[in-house]
Amino acid sequence: MVERVATGIPGFDKSIQGGLLKGSSNLIVGGPGSGKSIFCMQFLVNGAKAGEPGLYVSFEEDEQQLVQNLSPFSWGLEDLAKQGKLVLKYFTPEHIDIFIKSSMDPLLDVVRQYNVRRVVIDSATAYQMMFDTDYKKRVHLLKLLDALKKYEATVLITTERGTSADEFELMDFLANGVIVLYNIRKGSERGRGIEILKMRSTKHSQRIMPMDIGSSGITVYPDASFYSDV
Ligand SMILES: Nc1ncnc2c1ncn2[C@@H]1O[C@H](COP(=O)(O)OP(=O)(O)O)[C@@H](O)[C@H]1O
Ligand SMILES: [Mg+2]
Repeated sequence: MVERVATGIPGFDKSIQGGLLKGSSNLIVGGPGSGKSIFCMQFLVNGAKAGEPGLYVSFEEDEQQLVQNLSPFSWGLEDLAKQGKLVLKYFTPEHIDIFIKSSMDPLLDVVRQYNVRRVVIDSATAYQMMFDTDYKKRVHLLKLLDALKKYEATVLITTERGTSADEFELMDFLANGVIVLYNIRKGSERGRGIEILKMRSTKHSQRIMPMDIGSSGITVYPDASFYSDV
C-alpha cells in the first residue's frame, strides 16, 4: 500500500485517490495568476493544521509579501509560523549562491529543526534563472529535490509555463506528479481549471476539472465539466 498525503484542498484529493504520494515531488505548472502559489500554501496550511509542519521556500517574494498577498484567505499564516508549524524562507539570488556552495544546508537545517513534512519550492523558474546553461539548471534543481528526498517530505514545485500542457519538458518526466492549472478564456470570461497530467501509482482523474478561488482559497469540482457552464 502506498502512503498518501491529503492536500486538504476541497474536491481535489478525491481525484487522486486520496492524496499525493508520500515523499513524492510534484510539479505545479501554470501561467501567471493561475493559482500556483495559492494552491501550494493551502497544501502547507492544511498540513500544518493536521500536525505536519511545512516549509515554503520562495525565490520570488519575501516572507512579508507572501503573507500579505495571502492575507485575504484568513489562514492564520502568522500564527502557524509562530507555533513553528509553518516556516517561510525567502532566498535572494545572492542567498542561492551561498546555498549551493554549502550543499543546501540552510534549507536542510530548517527541515530537520522543524521536522518538516511538506515542502513548497516557489518557483523552479526563479531558482533556475540563477544558472546559465540548461545543464546546470537541471542539475541544480535535481540536487535540491534529491536532498529533500532523504527526509521523505512531500514536495510541490511551481513552474511558470504557458497553458499548453503538451509541451513536455524533462522535469515532467523526473517528477512523480504533474498538476496543471489553467485560467482560460471561455467566451468573454476566463475560467479556472486544474488537470492531473501525470501521477505515478495513481488512478487519477482524466478531465480538466473546474476550480475557483473563493474567500477561503481553492475549491476543485471533480465531477463537473470544465467546458460546460458550472
Ligand atoms: N482573495 C482572493 N479571492 C479570489 N481570488 C483571488 C484572491 N487573491 C488572489 N486571487 C486570484 O489569484 C491570482 C493569484 O494567484 P497566485 O497563486 O498568486 O498565482 P500564481 O502563483 O500562479 O502566479 C490572482 O491573479 C487572482 O486572480
Ligand atoms: Mg506565484
